[in-house]
Amino acid sequence: MKRYYITTPIYYVNSVPHIGTALTTIVADACARFQKRRGRTVYFLTGTDENAPKVHRVAQERGVPTQQFVDEMAEAFEGAWRALHIEYDVFIRTTEARHKQVVAEVFRRLRDKGDIYKGSYQGWYCVSCETFFASSKVDESRACPDCGKPLEWRDEPCYYFRLSAYESRLKEHIAANPHFIEPEVRRNETLGFIAEGLQDIAVSRTGTDWGVPVPDDPESGVVYVWFDALLNYLTATGWLERDDYTDAWPPDLQLMGKDILPRFHATIWPAMLMALELPLPERLYGHGWWIVNKQKMSKSLGNVYAPLEVAESLAQAAGCETPYAVDAFRYYMLREMPTDSDAEFSLEGLETRYNGDLANDLGNMLHRTLSMMHRYFGGRVPDGARVDAGLADLFAQQAARVADAYEAVDFPRGLREAWQIIGAVNRYYDEQAPWTLMKQGDTTRAGQVLYAGLIAARLLSALVEPAMPQVAREIARQLGVGEVPPWSEASAMDALPAGHALQEPKPIFPRLQAKPESKPSPAPPAQPTPQQGAAPMQDTITIDDFKRLQIRIATVVAAEPVPKSTKLLKLTLEVGGETRTIVAGIAEDYTPDQIVGKQIPVLVNLQPALIRGIVSEGMMLAADVDGKAVLLHPDREVPSGSIVR
Ligand code: MSP
Repeated sequence: MKRYYITTPIYYVNSVPHIGTALTTIVADACARFQKRRGRTVYFLTGTDENAPKVHRVAQERGVPTQQFVDEMAEAFEGAWRALHIEYDVFIRTTEARHKQVVAEVFRRLRDKGDIYKGSYQGWYCVSCETFFASSKVDESRACPDCGKPLEWRDEPCYYFRLSAYESRLKEHIAANPHFIEPEVRRNETLGFIAEGLQDIAVSRTGTDWGVPVPDDPESGVVYVWFDALLNYLTATGWLERDDYTDAWPPDLQLMGKDILPRFHATIWPAMLMALELPLPERLYGHGWWIVNKQKMSKSLGNVYAPLEVAESLAQAAGCETPYAVDAFRYYMLREMPTDSDAEFSLEGLETRYNGDLANDLGNMLHRTLSMMHRYFGGRVPDGARVDAGLADLFAQQAARVADAYEAVDFPRGLREAWQIIGAVNRYYDEQAPWTLMKQGDTTRAGQVLYAGLIAARLLSALVEPAMPQVAREIARQLGVGEVPPWSEASAMDALPAGHALQEPKPIFPRLQAKPESKPSPAPPAQPTPQQGAAPMQDTITIDDFKRLQIRIATVVAAEPVPKSTKLLKLTLEVGGETRTIVAGIAEDYTPDQIVGKQIPVLVNLQPALIRGIVSEGMMLAADVDGKAVLLHPDREVPSGSIVR
């Protein structure tokens, strides 16, 4: 039977795992767990890219034999991934003999059929990027167009891969398979790259003996590291070693960052497979990048975060057990995952999600449900418990939406949809007030209300498992169900029979207390500043500054006062098919009824902020009239999510 085959890129061992490499690996792990949960047999591959001349150089600089250096680094990667709860099936290393055999065999086969041919190279070479550049791309500075380091002139015999021969087949494949490259922005980048015209690429390198020697021609040096590295995905299936390697081939999903998609994974790689007459991967997904303080991470800027250190410091600050802090870190990675564009990584952002989504929402819902079950029913499911039909429909519908988003590798959307269940349960508790029902002696109804919370928690254990495996297990343990239910059984509304014993509640995510030196919480969004309307217009901005603001029309689907605040309303918005929560400082000017159903402009790419325990994901825009907010509406009803510009 064909296994669902997922890959990450294999990582260069000249740098340690950081939040960027952790992102691709955590996304892959979440996809693998999701597919397993749905009953598929999954084969999840990750590993290390060890043959680059760069790696050899770094080892030499450190005075360590290169093999020892790569062994230590591969161990560091495996250790980091295990500590981040990443459950891969195979960890491949390109220095393994079986991989070197595959590279040599592919090189021979393509040379025999004329897709690799010997020529000579004269031109500029960047040792750091391992890339040749045509003279037309190099200016007088002789600096690498990609990394800025000095280029070297090379004049040597060299092997080429006939990439140009595959240009039209590649274009046709991309056109015929709309899901081959995702998201759409990457597909367009790739089409743009191919449209510039494909040149044959040099696939051998002299000047080093670290790597896979060019077969039968040692004078020609080693195989170009990208040509070698891409083949790891094939090696890992047992190609050459076993006939039934097709139980894993072709890959169903290959994940990577945007930097290595258009040229390497969506052009050179499929062309190599076409040349080998092998089926192409089903889907390539390229995520955006984490940036830190609006800049690319780099050692020189000192803004490179190590995932385990981040998780450990969260554990200490919150007094949370390390495995749950690791899961909280995974949750943040996936909830804020850069999909189309880049996204800002920040410790404040992590803390906001931790306190808001995890401590206040998920953790609190589980804790209050179990506490009431123990207080009122001795920790056992009472007789006659069932979930109201409306809520049962909502749970099933949200579970389907989560599955749809996870399948599309859109974890921010999936997790947002899952959290709708928590919001619905909390609203249901507030409406039904089981504590009042108990006082009134209506224990049957109180039991039914709390049963809905138990069923929601059980369902959530399954929905969050791809992101937070240990937390999911702990939820299942506290519910007394032992195992996290598989997807197909997660929405069962009668899963907890009368008499079922629940465990004592135990907080999973203790709240992070504000540090004494930390600033007070930010002013609520959309709270108009007096006199703002009369202020002179100053400080011009460029059109590019303006373009960074994403303002969209949202429809208000629900509004409720924020407890213990006279100024704030919590708004649930629908923005182009997505649900969002924002906190707006308009409660003195509008009642919830006056705003529900209205279309309003919202700044949607504002960094989330925790306001009175609620994660606010954007800011509504309103006119400021003498300090009072006045709503703005489109001139006629427009599709929700319409861009304002
Ligand atoms: N060794 C090659 C891949 C060969 S695959 C046949 C490589 N390795 S890498 O270690 O430099 O990068 C690995 C992955 O980490 C890439 O998908 C890259 O996009 C991702 N990231 C590295 N820094 C990143 C961020 N700052 N943000 C998100 N992901 C980034 O390339």
